[in-house]
Amino acid sequence: EREFRINIAIDGPAGAGKSTVARMVASKLSYVYVDTGAMYRAVTWDMLNQGIEAEDVTGVLERMKAIDIELVPGEDGQRVTLSGYDVTDEIRSLAVNRTVSRYAQIEGLRAELSAAQRQMALRKGVVMDGRDIGTTVLPDAEVKIFMTATVEERARRRFRELPESGEVITLQQLEREIAERDELDRSREVSPLMCADDASVLDTTNMTINEVADEIVRLADREIARL
Ligand code: DC
Repeated sequence: EREFRINIAIDGPAGAGKSTVARMVASKLSYVYVDTGAMYRAVTWDMLNQGIEAEDVTGVLERMKAIDIELVPGEDGQRVTLSGYDVTDEIRSLAVNRTVSRYAQIEGLRAELSAAQRQMALRKGVVMDGRDIGTTVLPDAEVKIFMTATVEERARRRFRELPESGEVITLQQLEREIAERDELDRSREVSPLMCADDASVLDTTNMTINEVADEIVRLADREIARL
């Protein structure tokens, strides 16, 4: 049994396998998994629903006051609710994929979600994945991982996990969209996707999710042994 609890930050581009691995690591350590991308997605889904465009920063921030996002652990994984309404499946739609990076550029929106994320990690024992966790949200996380994989491999992984809702997209289109989203996430001014100086870089292109998860647990145990 592990005596101390730590926080684990996992960052990287879309489709690197962060959420699958983060969920596995959390389960192995009996930690809480926090999917911060789901929070950005839930906000985006709500804004699309309300017809508030990302360019309308004042409108977005005003609407944020009415939004209440919760991550609820469930039997078939984590559920995401928006003001009590389950949007777990809706937030994986192509419409959300295509617009989320634009909303995620808004500084005030990021400040609010980051504050909520920090709250969730206060008592430690959290595995949090996103783009800016090791750099901005939890700069003091005991373990920081930056997961990467080639854009081709990431597109293949995302292709396999698309919801079967009848939306049609080719692998090549998906690859292009992922590359575009990476570019937006990397080049935005506020908290861009970036590898923290003290993060361990894991290129997962040729690794199985089990290998990646085991490696992160090994790094966690090494840190816990130091406490
Ligand atoms: O991990 P994901 O694909 O579900 O994330 C969706 C989008 O949210 C992604 O394009 C960038 C944004 N995001 C972010 O800006 N910061 C985070 N911590 C997590 C996600």
